[in-house]
Amino acid sequence: MKYRTIGGDPARRREVSVLSLGAMLFGTITDEKTSFAILDRYVEAGGTFVDTSDNYAFWVDGTVGGESETLLGNWRRSRGIGDEVFIATKLGAAPLAPGTGYIDNPEGLSAAAIRSAVEGSKARLGVESLDLLYAHIPDPKVELAETVREFGALVHEGAVGLLGVSNHWAWQVERARAIARAEGIAGYEVLQYQHSYLRHRTDLSTELSPDGVCATADGNLLSMVRAERDLALVAYSPLIGGAYMREDKPLGPGHDHGSREARLTALREVAASSGATVNQVVLAWMLGADVPAIPLVGASSVAQLEESLAAVDLELTEEERARLNEA
Ligand SMILES: NC(=O)c1ccc[n+]([C@@H]2O[C@H](COP(=O)([O-])OP(=O)(O)OC[C@H]3O[C@@H](n4cnc5c(N)ncnc54)[C@H](OP(=O)(O)O)[C@@H]3O)[C@@H](O)[C@H]2O)c1
Repeated sequence: MKYRTIGGDPARRREVSVLSLGAMLFGTITDEKTSFAILDRYVEAGGTFVDTSDNYAFWVDGTVGGESETLLGNWRRSRGIGDEVFIATKLGAAPLAPGTGYIDNPEGLSAAAIRSAVEGSKARLGVESLDLLYAHIPDPKVELAETVREFGALVHEGAVGLLGVSNHWAWQVERARAIARAEGIAGYEVLQYQHSYLRHRTDLSTELSPDGVCATADGNLLSMVRAERDLALVAYSPLIGGAYMREDKPLGPGHDHGSREARLTALREVAASSGATVNQVVLAWMLGADVPAIPLVGASSVAQLEESLAAVDLELTEEERARLNEA
């Protein structure tokens, strides 16, 4: 495993493994035994950065979520895991009632919602403070400043270590950070966005926004991470749910991008020349990019995780990287 630092403030920044493990489906679709085996193997391989959310995975059984955090809490207790594993969680997108969703009935990002969500996540994870807390989706009903102040207060109180943001427009991230800077409080330093080697279309209307895709790491976001040294990019769904290598997982309309076929060809060529799998080439490309990302992979078996873990040691040659970048 390799490690890198996230967070800019010397008092709060943390070293984490360069590969993060997503626990989204642990405790629902992925049963406890398999989830524990994947987590154990991840830690054995040196992994220290696990991702969850208070709303995972409400859509499976029509709940309000929390199953993933509960499973992680049980795993921590049963293995005696403490600070050595850094667990990120998110709030804002849990449905307020079973059978509803994060668009029509979300908990949102008001100060009161944040306080209540943090208490719930701490209890389920079995921790005194949260390592990293993200605002999961924007809340258009709440002033940005209210959310920023509440997040900042949580850090000030020691209830949260680092702050992050996911699926927000780049302008919202920058405005939130500007408010935090002006008020001398902690702001967002970890950005979690959908990001992979294949480019994602940004022009499609989504449930989250009629104006296009705010969930993907586009040029606005990547240029911000390049320019701001305290920012780290965590890339969710880097394997596009398995679509690179599996016929049962076709690429969706979001990847119907003009560069798609050229990039798939380049990937196959580099996989052949490097002796790695296409998934591993994707992860290695992200890890070593000039705006490096922390791939946040999912896995439903230990074998899938093994393939992703091995990508950490895959060094692409300059020619291979150029071939991929130019496609
Ligand atoms: N911030 C957000 O809004 C957001 C949104 C989505 C996800 N996330 C986070 O990102 C994490 C990862 O998301 P993701 O699951 O979409 O990531 P992903 O890594 O793109 O997809 C993981 C899935 O790909 C398949 N897979 C993985 N390795 C494979 C292999 N070696 N061979 C064949 N198939 C393989 C598996 O599908 P099967 O299970 O079907 O076998 C696995 O569940 C989540 O757990 C969550 O923590 C965040």
